[in-house]
Amino acid sequence: MKVAVLYGGISAEREVSLSSGKGIMEALKNKGHEVTGIDFHPDRLHDVIELDVDIVYIALHGRFGEDGKVQALLDLLGIPYVGSGVQGSALALDKAKSKMFFEKEGTRVAKEQILMKHSFNEEAFTAELDFPIVVKPNLEGSTIGLTIAEDESTLMAGIKQAFEFDETIMLEEFISGIEVTVAVLGEKGEEKALPVIEIVPKNKYYDYEAKYAAGGSEHIIPARLSAEQTSYVQKHAVRAHQTLGCEVYSRVDFIVPKDETQLPVILEVNTLPGMTPTSLFPDACKEVDLPYEEMVETLLQLSLK
Ligand code: DAL
Ligand code: MG
Repeated sequence: MKVAVLYGGISAEREVSLSSGKGIMEALKNKGHEVTGIDFHPDRLHDVIELDVDIVYIALHGRFGEDGKVQALLDLLGIPYVGSGVQGSALALDKAKSKMFFEKEGTRVAKEQILMKHSFNEEAFTAELDFPIVVKPNLEGSTIGLTIAEDESTLMAGIKQAFEFDETIMLEEFISGIEVTVAVLGEKGEEKALPVIEIVPKNKYYDYEAKYAAGGSEHIIPARLSAEQTSYVQKHAVRAHQTLGCEVYSRVDFIVPKDETQLPVILEVNTLPGMTPTSLFPDACKEVDLPYEEMVETLLQLSLK
């Protein structure tokens, strides 16, 4: 098959995407496909418009890739692509909006306070949540621009930093517990949750370095959860994927409180999860006998159905 891979891009997650793209291109070549790689940014728009391929593999993360915009371009051009469409992608990347859907579906979400840059007034601001407070830009991934604030002064610094990445930011109650993630895979309506992965960061938190430096975190599969907790996160991962209208695959992140009487909290759905050598989605696939190359091929085939 003729496959174009879009990688790199202009989002804050560019470096991650370069690594995902490299892995995906190698896998596709090994599977015998004819591969064209495009480091995608606005100047390369013409190269995409002129593509003559059977399918596009989107290996971008974050804005202009994971947010539905590239998917819209490919829809207009009539070129199939791997993964979620415009609406699922756009909703999933918007952390605040996707939480409204999760809540409506009965999944536990963290309490939040949304701030907008245009109306934010430092003097008038009061935090509505108890410390520690997590500050995140609404539309970034990989914990970029994220702060876990323990007090007023780190909170204000965190808010200012998050506003550098996004006009809308989210403050959330910090839920202490085990960070887990669930890969979701399958045809529309028949998606399945793969074994739950527990993430044990070497740093205090699962931050950018813990995510991408070799040995930065340990992945434990299956996660050390109770049967009820495992079934909750798997069920709600599939539900979250479906309620946002995602397709083919995604990876859904949760925090599971140590206190078993408390329900796990959903964080977000990643429609273009990392595919680097240290990434979680490929690790979950390995557990179900889908090594990297087979995983890439499966995602391609599912997207052509
Ligand atoms: N946002 C990164 C790529 C991930 O979720 O894996
Ligand atoms: Mg993310």
